[in-house]
Amino acid sequence: MKFVVPVSALVSAGTVQHTTMWCSRSWRFCSVAMVFTLFQDLALAQFPRQCATPEALVSGECCPGVFPQLSPDASDQCGATVGRGLCGPVRVDSRPHGPQYQLDGTDDREQWPIRFFNRTCICVGRFYGYNCGSCRPGWTGDNCDQLLVAVRRNLLDLRPEERQRFINALDLAKTSVHPDYVIATRHYNELIDQERNTTNFENISIYDFFVWTHYYSVSKTFLGPGQGSAGGIDFSHEGPAFLTWHRYHLMQLERDIQNLLQDPSFALPYWNFAIGGNECDICTDDLMGARSNFGQNLLSPNSVFSRWQIVCEFVEDYESLGTICNNTAVSPIRRNPAGNIARPMVQRLPEPEDVLVCLEVNLFDTPPFFSNSTESFRNTIEGYSEPSGQYNSTVRSLHNLAHLFLNGTGGQTHLSPNDPIFVLLHTFTDAVFDEWLRRHNVDFNQYPLENTPIGHNRQYNMVPFWPPVTNNEMFVLAPDSLGYSYDVQWPSRALSSTEIITIAVIAALVLVAIVFAGTTCAVRRRTKKSEVLQPLLGESYPRYAEDKENTHSV
Ligand SMILES: *[C@@H]1O[C@H](CO)[C@@H](O)[C@H](O)[C@H]1NC(C)=O
Ligand SMILES: *[C@@H]1O[C@H](CO)[C@@H](O)[C@H](O)[C@H]1NC(C)=O
Ligand SMILES: *[C@@H]1O[C@H](CO)[C@@H](O)[C@H](O)[C@H]1NC(C)=O
Ligand SMILES: *[C@@H]1O[C@H](CO)[C@@H](O)[C@H](O)[C@H]1NC(C)=O
Ligand SMILES: *[C@@H]1O[C@H](CO)[C@@H](O)[C@H](O)[C@H]1NC(C)=O
Ligand SMILES: *[C@@H]1O[C@H](CO)[C@@H](O)[C@H](O)[C@H]1NC(C)=O
Ligand SMILES: *[C@@H]1O[C@H](CO)[C@@H](O)[C@H](O)[C@H]1NC(C)=O
Repeated sequence: MKFVVPVSALVSAGTVQHTTMWCSRSWRFCSVAMVFTLFQDLALAQFPRQCATPEALVSGECCPGVFPQLSPDASDQCGATVGRGLCGPVRVDSRPHGPQYQLDGTDDREQWPIRFFNRTCICVGRFYGYNCGSCRPGWTGDNCDQLLVAVRRNLLDLRPEERQRFINALDLAKTSVHPDYVIATRHYNELIDQERNTTNFENISIYDFFVWTHYYSVSKTFLGPGQGSAGGIDFSHEGPAFLTWHRYHLMQLERDIQNLLQDPSFALPYWNFAIGGNECDICTDDLMGARSNFGQNLLSPNSVFSRWQIVCEFVEDYESLGTICNNTAVSPIRRNPAGNIARPMVQRLPEPEDVLVCLEVNLFDTPPFFSNSTESFRNTIEGYSEPSGQYNSTVRSLHNLAHLFLNGTGGQTHLSPNDPIFVLLHTFTDAVFDEWLRRHNVDFNQYPLENTPIGHNRQYNMVPFWPPVTNNEMFVLAPDSLGYSYDVQWPSRALSSTEIITIAVIAALVLVAIVFAGTTCAVRRRTKKSEVLQPLLGESYPRYAEDKENTHSV
């Protein structure tokens, strides 16, 4: 079989053209020709159903096999009988973490995942997955030797039938039980029910699994009966892993849906949230749901998402009782775009300029590698800095601002993935990340090795993914190494006043030269003149003014 991947498809489009004006809402998109490859199962996530048994937990080993699909040997582990992998020790990061978390020894998630399992499948070559039954990201086929690159596109650019197909895929993921993974509903100490010789794991739908993994990564540390829970811990936000964690999180959902649809070309679209203004352009009934006429915080009954019910909302229970979010879902998604009248700063979406400016921040992350890092690209796109990179405790920008703008389920950290806008908001954030990696020549040395908040060190296994995957593994260019690319054209930068003046002077000189020469450069003259006439867009966008809020970021 022959697989063709055009080189142009592997490079996200768009270099900054300093002399071209951008127009908000009119970003253009390159069309990308792409030939997709055959579907191949690639499961990525927490504990496989086969390992959710008392015996597996007691042994500390989670090494299921590929019998009967890929091996005739019923005792196969990790595809060893067919040369795909071996059962081996889990490697964990033991470098020091930052000062935010001081309860070492208390939390199940420390040195993930050895509190649960210390042996896992270690796959060879391009084989991958909890049992080495699938392929590394970017590969497919029985022998994992065929390239696979799915193209993530702007939701608004999808044709009506493509839009419908995406909505249907999400809805199917919401109602289909995850084929491979189950969720823990108790901390480790209570995970095995000794008397009944069972464990406290539950089945959960593919989409709710996506919500659960996010919840589990941000939940507090349970201190014990009657003692509540402590913060200072977040495995997926306020640190360098913010970008790598959410990248893997999306890849997991995308693969799960590809498997569900038996369609390897399925790609998650994105929402370009950097459009300014106070309108949610994707909040329509053919997309993510319009506002309901029956309540400003609810979704219109014409949207399938009005029937979705959310999981992981009983945080007080989890934190006081020491339980973990389970598959119970009772309330609807709440959303009120631009509706937070008490906080005007979050009633507007980020501006296109904000994305351009943040892409120019040179360093990936800076000490203390936290939500108060300054001149850190990660902290800037996450949204705790001015878009320029300057830390300012009162500012909420880019990713954080897009979440808070939603003023509802999608704006609360522990719940946010319940609103499917989360998926689109994060693919766009990931697109900016990939563009930054491309422009700044990705090098893993730019990712901090130690002294980041717990879970955020370069070699830390991201909580709670299974099989273990480190932050480092996601710090690569997606089209080259992860099996997907973005079809996006970045807006070019607005001109600064000095640039305008420079161009005006040059244009005037050119004009004079042309007049004197009396020659035929009419085309060139018109171009320069039109540039001179452009307004100073770069100076005109508003700054967000608001006192620091204690509300959770997202
Ligand atoms: C692995 O985990 C098992 C079960 O918790 C434990 O008995 C064993 O000592 C551990 N092995 C290592 C090398 O940590
Ligand atoms: C628990 O049940 C499994 C079968 O489900 C059995 O193999 C195992 O011996 C039992 N363990 C105990 C301690 O009873
Ligand atoms: C989950 O569902 C599967 C298939 O229906 C069933 O065999 C299994 O017992 C369930 N597991 C749990 C933990 O409920
Ligand atoms: C699921 O979580 C809810 C909310 O905390 C709780 O009331 C319920 O008892 C839990 N269900 C199970 C089976 O533990
Ligand atoms: C939504 O906005 C209202 C009104 O300003 C505010 O009281 C509420 O806390 C906000 N809710 C969320 C989840 O952001
Ligand atoms: C960042 O925040 C931490 C914790 O609040 C604080 O200890 C530290 O001094 C702050 N660092 C900077 C550079 O502001
Ligand atoms: C932080 O942002 C606020 C609101 O935009 C602004 O008033 C303030 O001057 C900024 N502080 C610094 C140090 O730039």
